[in-house]
Amino acid sequence: MIPLLPRIQALRYVTPLREGGSLPAVMEADDDGTYVVKFRGAGQGLKVLVAEVITSEIARVIGIPTPELAVITLVDALTKYERDEEVQDLLKASVGTNLASDFLPGSFGYDGSCPPPADLAAKILWLDAYSLNIDRTWANPNLIVWHGRVHAIDHGASLWFHHSWPSKAPNPAAFATRQPDLAKHVLIDVAGPVAEVNDALVAHLSDEVLTAVVDLVPEEWLEPMVLTDDPQHIRRIYVEHLIARRDAAAEWTKALP
Ligand SMILES: Nc1ncnc2c1ncn2[C@@H]1O[C@H](COP(=O)(O)OP(=O)(O)OP(=O)(O)O)[C@@H](O)[C@H]1O
Ligand SMILES: [Mg+2]
Repeated sequence: MIPLLPRIQALRYVTPLREGGSLPAVMEADDDGTYVVKFRGAGQGLKVLVAEVITSEIARVIGIPTPELAVITLVDALTKYERDEEVQDLLKASVGTNLASDFLPGSFGYDGSCPPPADLAAKILWLDAYSLNIDRTWANPNLIVWHGRVHAIDHGASLWFHHSWPSKAPNPAAFATRQPDLAKHVLIDVAGPVAEVNDALVAHLSDEVLTAVVDLVPEEWLEPMVLTDDPQHIRRIYVEHLIARRDAAAEWTKALP
């Protein structure tokens, strides 16, 4: 039902995207596609790639346009052609699997000139509240407009609970009821009532769907945590968080417009 992420090989580094904090880049791959690549060796680490996969795929499931993702492999030989030292270091640290997002040519950053319909804006608000993503403000909209349609990108800052896992036991109940703070959200003024979309979105996210979404994350991105280093166990812990948060939707949607 949810297709696996395609596996592709990087062929050529085209250009860095300097506006991205993690120095993502445009790359060409062996499927003739062009992608925006987020690197495993960037300072933010693997967890942002995990969050990007899970939250972007949840977005897709609930009907939010978002670029197709793929897992892109970078081989050592490619890193030698890059003259810029910062880029070369990043590529060297990123040999292996990285995250690719289908490059949407001609897209532009959201500036309010082409607002999404009220129900799509409400869905995006819901997603950001669900995943506790604070990274969608005017300073950093993380929305791009392509063929007149708003697409959601950059979900690496969502699901931030996993950053405490190297030292603290996971706590799905705490994540489940955390109140979102969307006062500065870029779509707050154009979104329809979240209450009107909530039930349909919750219904899309069955336990099976959430499990399938977490299964999309490449095994080697699941880093050991205090409780376990078993990737299957770590996947279950992500799913527990996502289910608990879904089940508490009535609680955390109260504060939303
Ligand atoms: N699939 C895509 N197609 C076209 N352009 C894209 C795509 N994904 C990202 N971009 C462009 O690249 C920029 C950086 O991407 P993104 O926000 O995902 O990176 P980031 O390093 O996480 O950024 P930051 O942390 O600064 O928000 C975006 O603002 C957008 O302009
Ligand atoms: Mg961004």
